[in-house]
Amino acid sequence: MKKFPLEPIEKASRKKLRDLQLSRLKWSLKHAYEKVPHYRKKFDAAGVKPKDLKTLADLAKFPFTAKADLRDTYPFGMLAVPMDKVVRIHASSGTTGKPTVVGYTKKDIDTWSHLMARSIRAAGARPGDKLHNAYGYGLFTGGLGVHYGAERLGLTTVPVSGGMTERQVQLIRDFKPDIITVTPSYMLAICDEMERQGFDPKKSSLRIGIFGAEPWTTELRKQIETRTSLQAIDLYGLSEVMGPGVAQECIETKDGLTIWEDHFYPEVVDPVTGEVLADGEKGELVFTALTKEALPIIRYRTRDLTRLLPGTARVMRRMERITGRSDDMLIIRGVNLFPSQIEELILKRPELSPHYVLELSKQGPLDHLTVLVESTDQGAAGKLQHDIKSYIGVSADVKIVAAGTIERSIGKAKRVIDKRPK
Ligand code: DLL
Repeated sequence: MKKFPLEPIEKASRKKLRDLQLSRLKWSLKHAYEKVPHYRKKFDAAGVKPKDLKTLADLAKFPFTAKADLRDTYPFGMLAVPMDKVVRIHASSGTTGKPTVVGYTKKDIDTWSHLMARSIRAAGARPGDKLHNAYGYGLFTGGLGVHYGAERLGLTTVPVSGGMTERQVQLIRDFKPDIITVTPSYMLAICDEMERQGFDPKKSSLRIGIFGAEPWTTELRKQIETRTSLQAIDLYGLSEVMGPGVAQECIETKDGLTIWEDHFYPEVVDPVTGEVLADGEKGELVFTALTKEALPIIRYRTRDLTRLLPGTARVMRRMERITGRSDDMLIIRGVNLFPSQIEELILKRPELSPHYVLELSKQGPLDHLTVLVESTDQGAAGKLQHDIKSYIGVSADVKIVAAGTIERSIGKAKRVIDKRPK
C-alpha cells in the first residue's frame, strides 16, 4: 500500500527532540517578552527574564497564562506582530463575556497546516483519499484548520462544515469519502440520519473518523466503531495554542494522543497549586507554543485534565484521552462528577441511546442532578439510576425521553443544562 512517509523529527531521538525544544523555547520566551507588553509585565512581576531559562525544567519559573489574560487584552493585546503581518483571526465564542481572539502570521498558518497534515496522516490517511470535513467553518478553528491540513496532505477535501445533516448524508453517499472529520457527538447525529434514510452506516465508504473538539469516552469510540465500519481516532487542539492538530492519536497504536512536541511543550500541573507533576500523574494540561509568531503562548492553562505518557508510535510523548475539563466538573452533594462518567454508564446499557443531557437544579439548598436520556425502555431509568449511585456515588434522577427529544449538536455538544437560580 502507498504511504505518506514520516518526517525525520517524528523518528528522531528524545535527545534530539529535547535539544530542539530548548532552543525553540528560548526563542519563544524572548519573543513574548520583547514583543508583548502583557508578558513583559507578568515576567517582570514574577522576577524572571527569558535568559533565566537554561533547561526545559526552568520553564516552571515562568508565570502561567490563562483565558483571562486573553480576555483582559481583548481583542488584540496579546499579538506580538503588527497587524499587517496577521493574515488570519479566529475567535472562540466564550460562554460568558467577550470571545477569545487569536491571530496567525503567514508562517503560523504554514506551521498549522503542516501539523494538521501530519495529524491526518497519523490518523491513517493515504494518498488519493477523500476527506469530508464537517467541522464548522468560520471563527471556530475546526473547519479551516482541518481544511488547510487536508489540502496540504494532498487529499481531496470536501468543505461541508457543520449542519444540514440530511445533506451531509447525501454527500457521503454520493461522493464516497474515505475520511470524515467531525465532533463525535455530531457523528452520532449523522449515523442516525443514515439509518433514517434506510442507509446502513456500516455500508458507507468511510474508513476513518477523526473526532475531537469535545470530550468523548472509550465507550463512545466502541459504539461508533460498532455502528459503522470506521476507525474512530482522537484529535485534540485548542484555539489559544493553535487550533486542531496540537495532538493526534496514531492509527497504528490507538493509545492516546501524540503531542506534536516539536511545536508545543506540554506540562501537567496540579490544578490547585500549579506545581508541575511528573509524567504519568494526572492533572491540568499546560502548553507553551515553541514556534508561534503572532500569538506567543507561554504556559497556557488549558483546564483539560490528563496525564503525559511515553511515546509509542512516535518519539513524542502522548497524553491520555481527555475525559473532562476542570471547569466541567459538577459537585453534586459533595461528590465530584464529570459528564463523561455518566456517558460511560449510559453507553454500557445497550437499551439507552447515546443522546443525553445533564440537568442541574436546586432541591432546597442542595444541587440536584437529573439525567435525561433517550430510550424506548422506561425500565432502563431505574437501572441507570442504580449504576450512577453505585459507580459514582451520587443520587440522581433519570428521565427516559422519546427519541429525538434531546437537542442534537452540529458541533460541540452541550451536555449540561444549568437550571439553578443565579
Ligand atoms: O475545539 C479545536 C479543535 C477542532 C480540536 C477540531 C479538535 C478538532 P476550541 O474551540 O478552542 O478548539 O476548544 C478547545 O476543546 O481545551 C478541550 O477542552 C476541548 N477538546 C478539543 N479536542 C478535544 C479532544 C477546538 N480530542 C477545547 N478530546 C479544549 C477532549 C477536546 N476535549
